[in-house]
Amino acid sequence: VADADVLDLAKRRGFLWPAFDAYGGAAGFYDYGPLGAAMKTAFENLWRHIFLHTEPLPMGEVFCPRVTPYEVLKASGHVDEFTDLVVKCQNGHPMRADHLVKEAGYDGNADALSQAGIDVQVVALKPACPTCGAKKWTPAAPMNLMNQTEIGPGSGRVGYLRPETAQGIFTDFPLLLRYFRGKLPFGAIQLGGSNRNEISPRQGMLRLREFSMMEAEVFFADTNAPLAAFAGVAKRTAVFVPNTTEKAVEMSFGEAVSSGMVCNQALGYFLARTQQFLLLAGMDPKRLRFRQHLENEMAHYAQDCWDAEFYSDRYGWIECVGIADRGCYDLSQHAKHSGRVGDFTYRLALADGPRFEARRVEVDAGKLGRTFKAQAKAVAAAIQQEFIDAAAKVGGYDSVAGLGSVTFEGQATAPATLHVTIDGASVQVPADCIKSIEEGTFRLDARNILPSVIEPSFGVDRILYALWEHAYEAGEKNGEPYIRLRLSPYVAPVQVAVLALTSKDGMPEKAAEIEWQLRAAGLRTDSDLSGNIGRRYARQDEAGTPYCVTVDQDTMQDGSVTVRDRDTTQQERVASDALVQYLRRRCQPDHA
Ligand code: ATP
Ligand code: GLY
Repeated sequence: VADADVLDLAKRRGFLWPAFDAYGGAAGFYDYGPLGAAMKTAFENLWRHIFLHTEPLPMGEVFCPRVTPYEVLKASGHVDEFTDLVVKCQNGHPMRADHLVKEAGYDGNADALSQAGIDVQVVALKPACPTCGAKKWTPAAPMNLMNQTEIGPGSGRVGYLRPETAQGIFTDFPLLLRYFRGKLPFGAIQLGGSNRNEISPRQGMLRLREFSMMEAEVFFADTNAPLAAFAGVAKRTAVFVPNTTEKAVEMSFGEAVSSGMVCNQALGYFLARTQQFLLLAGMDPKRLRFRQHLENEMAHYAQDCWDAEFYSDRYGWIECVGIADRGCYDLSQHAKHSGRVGDFTYRLALADGPRFEARRVEVDAGKLGRTFKAQAKAVAAAIQQEFIDAAAKVGGYDSVAGLGSVTFEGQATAPATLHVTIDGASVQVPADCIKSIEEGTFRLDARNILPSVIEPSFGVDRILYALWEHAYEAGEKNGEPYIRLRLSPYVAPVQVAVLALTSKDGMPEKAAEIEWQLRAAGLRTDSDLSGNIGRRYARQDEAGTPYCVTVDQDTMQDGSVTVRDRDTTQQERVASDALVQYLRRRCQPDHA
């Protein structure tokens, strides 16, 4: 299928329109028409069904602002690192450097090339500028992709339109932790718009400057711990492309994790949930795979990352979901930059924590100050450091979250003279500067940790394009071109069209009555009275409507209708009192 065909259909039927068309449009911006908006809403609700309503882990939905203060995105690393490399041709046309090199025939992973690596390839491949054909390019330079704005007129306060919805969730972590009664794991989901000032958006719906995301941030004390929910998905199979071999292999999620290819069950679990969702939404299983990022391709925050990719006839394999183990990167950044470390810290109680040998000393701050003057702080710190180092050996100390809680299992001893080393010199601390000394075995009762995060991040628009392309089927019927869009009933903008066979004998009224009954049951419906029934079926097939209910003479007698299945074109007679259930079972995931 050519993307032009898919986009033609989308435009003609009111799925997708170029934004600001009356003014010539703007690259990277699209509108959803009535069918597209209905499908997008249904699609987002299906996502909620999987990641919120039927997710066994505790989940909650939040909704955060799109304008985000500078400080937040500075802390998250986006101000400094959310960049793509740009090159400009001799006539000043900008191009995203990795895309230029890839289109010129570079057969490695261009996204993983360094700045210098890009320059080497541009010189070697001499790509022509897609706009003007020029072949001379500037050296590559990083360009930040965020759209900057001002918060409050004339305030000089810098803000950005968010490039991902995730940061709102991370900054909400302290409030979420309280909401979830202080217990891990839990997750927050967010659906909403994001902006990226993409350098050269030339791939239709795949690369937008404003797009919709559906993200989940799931917080764990330890992502490497076994996850009970994983058992429920371990037997599902998928195609994986690991970064070690870069070759596709089919295996179960269980094997993918036990072989160490996917780093832990928590990540494996969300890969599987992602697959489950995409298949329910109608993605072709043969055109879906999971590809692991190369080490040097990963975002600045990721420890391990897999992309769900779909195959497009026009564009090849395209990322549509990123599933990352972000570790504790984001929470530790916000803990440090907000100055509210304690709020971002989780106290992980240990039933029978590890023991360690150490000496814990409580100093008399007043006497220490009088004795050591300007050096007092350094002396106190050196005394404490000894204990921290010992605790750190059993994981009782985190550089951001600090010391957990410990119990001394021995007897305190009387204050005595101590020696500490400061800047390589031994310093003697007299006994009268010391209040107490505990030397012996300590037990770690709790660790202060920064929770780790697994994040599935879905791009709505890219996936909708994939669903259209995978569902698109063109042929001929009675000598005329005929298109059928085999959309999943769960996301089809219209699930049931109710068609009166003729506009006489009370049939339109009966059809309207049935349509209201179906709407009341939560089904998305449409009606159509214009043209012969074959033409009306064809119109619905093209819009992706999975079922047509036809009201005929018999309906007027006994209430029964025919239900036509879009994909088989078979018709079945269904009794009036069975109709709602019949359609719900086929169109609503919670009735399936
Ligand atoms: P790419 O390398 O293609 O620019 P990315 O790696 O930057 O994508 P992520 O940052 O992982 O993408 O974003 C998560 C998801 O958001 C992507 O899988 C994609 O579906 C969607 N997405 C990202 N950028 C865009 C865009 N410009 N237009 C539409 N969707 C996008
Ligand atoms: N939140 C993931 C991303 O934007 O890449």
